[in-house]
Amino acid sequence: MNFLLVLTLIVIISVQSRQENVSLDPCNDFYDYVCSNDTRSITELNFTSLFEDREILNPNISFPNNGTYITFDQILSPYSLMMWYMVVKSMDTPTVGSEFFDEATREYATKKNNSEKFSFALENLENLNLTLTNVFYNSLYANIEVLNQLNLPASEENEYLHHIFDLMKNNTIEEIWSSSLSNKSKKEFEKELNKSKVIFGLLDYNNVTMLEETKLIYETEYYRLKSLLSSNDLDTEIAEKIIRLGATDTATKNLGKRIPGYTPQFLFSAFASNMANEAFNQNSNIYCGIVTRSDLQEPILTIADTIFVLAHELMHFVYPFGIRLLPSNVTKAANKCTQDEVKMMGDSDAVKPIDGWFSENITHEDLPNLLGLRMVMKMVARKSANEEQLKNALETILSGLCIQGKPKNSILPNHHPFEISINTAVRQYPLFSSLYGCRLGDRMFAEPEKFCNPLGGDVNLEDYKIKNDTEDVGGFFNYIMDTANAFNFSFTN
Ligand SMILES: *[C@@H]1O[C@H](CO)[C@@H](O)[C@H](O)[C@H]1NC(C)=O
Ligand SMILES: *[C@@H]1O[C@H](CO)[C@@H](O)[C@H](O)[C@H]1NC(C)=O
Ligand SMILES: *[C@@H]1O[C@H](CO)[C@@H](O)[C@H](O)[C@H]1NC(C)=O
Ligand SMILES: *[C@@H]1O[C@H](CO)[C@@H](O)[C@H](O)[C@H]1NC(C)=O
Ligand SMILES: *[C@@H]1O[C@H](CO)[C@@H](O)[C@H](O)[C@H]1NC(C)=O
Ligand SMILES: *[C@@H]1O[C@H](CO)[C@@H](O)[C@H](O)[C@H]1NC(C)=O
Ligand SMILES: *[C@@H]1O[C@H](CO)[C@@H](O)[C@H](O)[C@H]1NC(C)=O
Ligand SMILES: *[C@@H]1O[C@H](CO)[C@@H](O)[C@H](O)[C@H]1NC(C)=O
Ligand SMILES: *[C@@H]1O[C@H](CO)[C@@H](O)[C@H](O)[C@H]1NC(C)=O
Ligand SMILES: *[C@@H]1O[C@H](CO)[C@@H](O)[C@H](O)[C@H]1NC(C)=O
Ligand SMILES: *[C@@H]1O[C@H](CO)[C@@H](O)[C@H](O)[C@H]1NC(C)=O
Ligand SMILES: *[C@@H]1O[C@H](CO)[C@@H](O)[C@H](O)[C@H]1NC(C)=O
Ligand SMILES: [Zn+2]
Repeated sequence: MNFLLVLTLIVIISVQSRQENVSLDPCNDFYDYVCSNDTRSITELNFTSLFEDREILNPNISFPNNGTYITFDQILSPYSLMMWYMVVKSMDTPTVGSEFFDEATREYATKKNNSEKFSFALENLENLNLTLTNVFYNSLYANIEVLNQLNLPASEENEYLHHIFDLMKNNTIEEIWSSSLSNKSKKEFEKELNKSKVIFGLLDYNNVTMLEETKLIYETEYYRLKSLLSSNDLDTEIAEKIIRLGATDTATKNLGKRIPGYTPQFLFSAFASNMANEAFNQNSNIYCGIVTRSDLQEPILTIADTIFVLAHELMHFVYPFGIRLLPSNVTKAANKCTQDEVKMMGDSDAVKPIDGWFSENITHEDLPNLLGLRMVMKMVARKSANEEQLKNALETILSGLCIQGKPKNSILPNHHPFEISINTAVRQYPLFSSLYGCRLGDRMFAEPEKFCNPLGGDVNLEDYKIKNDTEDVGGFFNYIMDTANAFNFSFTN
């Protein structure tokens, strides 16, 4: 039984900074070359911390008790309690990786009967602090605060962004079909990808009234459940945790009626992530945060970031979710190739990451960057009329990804330092060295025979080249912005 599978994310933190004098040779460090010019201004939003103890408002509805009390397992079944424990625990990203969930799930599965299962869930709940169990309530608060500060276009599903997602999804499917995988695997990937959906944080389902209603449902359920417990039970901390998770269960299920097609767990993670600059792929549904990690006054960079992040999350369908559909010699070679590349890029960076930064276990985060950038650059090639436009598009993508306000090569939970992973992907973009004139011996130069092939087969350079019959639309991002105009879309009202 799988409660959550894997939750993966890219974290990019805001606050403006500008380095004036780093090395500006694209063949040495492309990330620095582009990001030393980063002048985006990402709005710092003010909102209640998700990890602050906050009183749950009493909705002033009375729940008289007739003298019959219920037991804890009548609030949440052992399965639900365990599931919510893990979903909530996943908010504590520095301490939990995917192995954590695998282990807890495996152990839960060894429990023989309901009472053993429930005891196991309770034991786990002990090491979740009280504030964390209220995180959904806090996140509703924070979402309402943030939405009231911002002047975002109101929408249920933002038509333009969902169009971009469909475009990316179609291109991912095309990548799979043009690979040398078996037809059976290709069909399976296509099926999985076609099922996938996305929520764009704060730009989709951003009706404040809906969130206020959800908050009221949480409050009502919280006090209703309290009225059903005996005063002895109510005195325990575990009761408070279970009641909060019970209220979370009810509130997210109700939210699911307004936002159909997603599990309550996914909705929990999505709304709780709206303040956190991240993106993830949870059981084939994708969450993509834009607002809190981008400068909305720079729409081209914002959409460039979004496109790259979507490419990364879509490629998680292959690495790690789809590796069973790939020949093991292919995944083995791809992992080894990518690990060698990442390690080399980290060890040779002018800014050395801290010792112990490298782990083989998180290569499944570097591979989607590599595959994603290649896919996007093929899309770019189809809309470019000259090499300048290819270079512009690559620099635009990188500009949208620059991390602000943090030392270079900061450690990220469950990922290699972002700058290293992204430079590796750029180095592995097959046209990079020819576009920038990099030569053997340059740090960013990869010999063609050292290109990694995560889907098997070989790199076909032609896929990346501009075609001479391409009509000049002014480059890929011009086309993307023309599309935004056609949808009458802008990031702010
Ligand atoms: C970079 O610039 C900063 C401030 O502008 C200066 O303090 C520092 O010495 C410079 N470093 C190099 C290597 O030039
Ligand atoms: C960075 O800015 C400088 C000065 O404005 C400019 O000459 C250079 O081309 C820019 N680099 C990139 C990669 O955009
Ligand atoms: C957030 O709070 C700070 C300090 O109180 C204030 O300067 C800033 O304008 C606020 N930002 C927004 C977006 O309201
Ligand atoms: C609570 O509800 C009762 C009865 O509906 C009402 O008399 C009372 O004023 C309400 N109290 C608050 C604080 O809203
Ligand atoms: C007492 O209240 C509970 C919960 O509302 C209900 O399930 C139960 O049937 C009630 N018992 C009696 C005797 O009314
Ligand atoms: C559940 O299993 C445990 C250990 O096998 C046993 O001691 C306990 O009596 C069982 N409980 C129920 C309700 O069957
Ligand atoms: C609860 O855990 C969260 C996440 O680890 C942490 O940020 C917070 O400070 C903790 N709260 C208390 C009261 O210990
Ligand atoms: C994606 O592919 C589907 C099915 O072929 C097609 O109907 C849809 O228009 C495509 N969407 C985009 C944005 O390319
Ligand atoms: C927002 O939600 C409220 C309450 O559910 C609903 O009445 C209203 O029509 C919604 N607004 C929009 C713009 O959809
Ligand atoms: C994997 O094995 C197949 C058949 O055994 C072979 O054709 C292919 O070249 C191998 N791929 C790699 C990357 O080693
Ligand atoms: C990586 O995986 C290996 C074997 O699967 C394991 O022994 C090691 O503890 C893991 N390292 C980290 C940092 O998780
Ligand atoms: C494409 O056009 C360029 C410049 O006009 C030319 O050098 C090149 O040979 C052409 N390539 C093909 C495949 O026609
Ligand atoms: Zn990821």
